Amino acid sequence: MTILNETYTLSNGVQIPRLGLGTWLIDDGKAAKAVRDAVEIGYRNIDTAQAYGNERGVGEGVRTAGIPRDELFVSTKLAAEIKDHDRAAAAIDGSLDDLGLDYIDLMLIHSPQPWDDFRGGDYTEGNQQAWAALEEAHKAGKIRSIGVSNFLEEDLDGILQDAAVTPHVNQLLVHAGNTPTDLLAYCEDRQILVEAYSPIAHGEILENTQLAEMADKYGVTVPQLCIRYTLQLGTVSLPKTANPEHMRSNAEVDFEISEPDMATLQNLHAQNYGDSSAFPVYSGK
Ligand SMILES: NC(=O)c1ccc[n+]([C@@H]2O[C@H](COP(=O)([O-])OP(=O)(O)OC[C@H]3O[C@@H](n4cnc5c(N)ncnc54)[C@H](OP(=O)(O)O)[C@@H]3O)[C@@H](O)[C@H]2O)c1
Repeated sequence: MTILNETYTLSNGVQIPRLGLGTWLIDDGKAAKAVRDAVEIGYRNIDTAQAYGNERGVGEGVRTAGIPRDELFVSTKLAAEIKDHDRAAAAIDGSLDDLGLDYIDLMLIHSPQPWDDFRGGDYTEGNQQAWAALEEAHKAGKIRSIGVSNFLEEDLDGILQDAAVTPHVNQLLVHAGNTPTDLLAYCEDRQILVEAYSPIAHGEILENTQLAEMADKYGVTVPQLCIRYTLQLGTVSLPKTANPEHMRSNAEVDFEISEPDMATLQNLHAQNYGDSSAFPVYSGK
């Protein structure tokens, strides 16, 4: 049993593989091969988004990976800018068309605010409308589970005021150096499974000497330590790579980080994302 065969169970009973492949910044033309390589290595969970511009390639990879569709877990995200019911409903159908799939395993509202107003204004009503469209598609069997991403407690409260379905997932920036402990606890209390995005801090943490020393102690690499950390927190881990060697080693995380080392990693603050700070999610907001 490797981590690639292990799953969590969402609050609606759907099984989700604990380790997935992130596909942000993989070009549409290269995404199908990346997905096929990942599936061959044993990955069963693939994460994309409308905003990544590669749903077509990801869908092609899923359809040509040589294993039954129901053995794969495919996630995508509703564009952050869509905050009304009718556009959300149309965009959900657009994702199904672009992916070329009959159903999506998980679809998330990408962000509580449009990217150009991240952590800015109040979009409660718009999120409720987008959520209603996701609920309808879920009920219609187009999406097996539904969730949110980048939602803080107040954003989740806004959805919950009006929701028939509590989000099954909240996908958040979680990595050694950035552990939102209170938000993780809030989600756990509500049976909302957290997915850790950028578990290797978007690649920025590879040179961190404290992590390098700890990784050495376990005889693993910094990415392996980082991925294992997010798994031991109880989150789904979504490292991105298009490199099959990295895919393989990122899945070799069959070791245990001790409790004191988990506490050290949990208390570590490393939120310098270099040039990537220009992206709203790394802006510190
Ligand atoms: N919901 C959201 O708002 C949101 C935001 C950001 C990300 N995400 C999701 O989370 C996924 C992962 O996040 P991310 O792409 O920001 O960053 P990440 O997975 O933390 O880091 C990716 C970087 O690490 C490198 N890397 C991966 N494995 C490696 C290895 N074994 N050795 C050396 N370098 C390695 C990759 O380079 P190579 O490609 O060269 O291997 C890439 O530069 C995204 O792809 C996306 O699916 C979601």
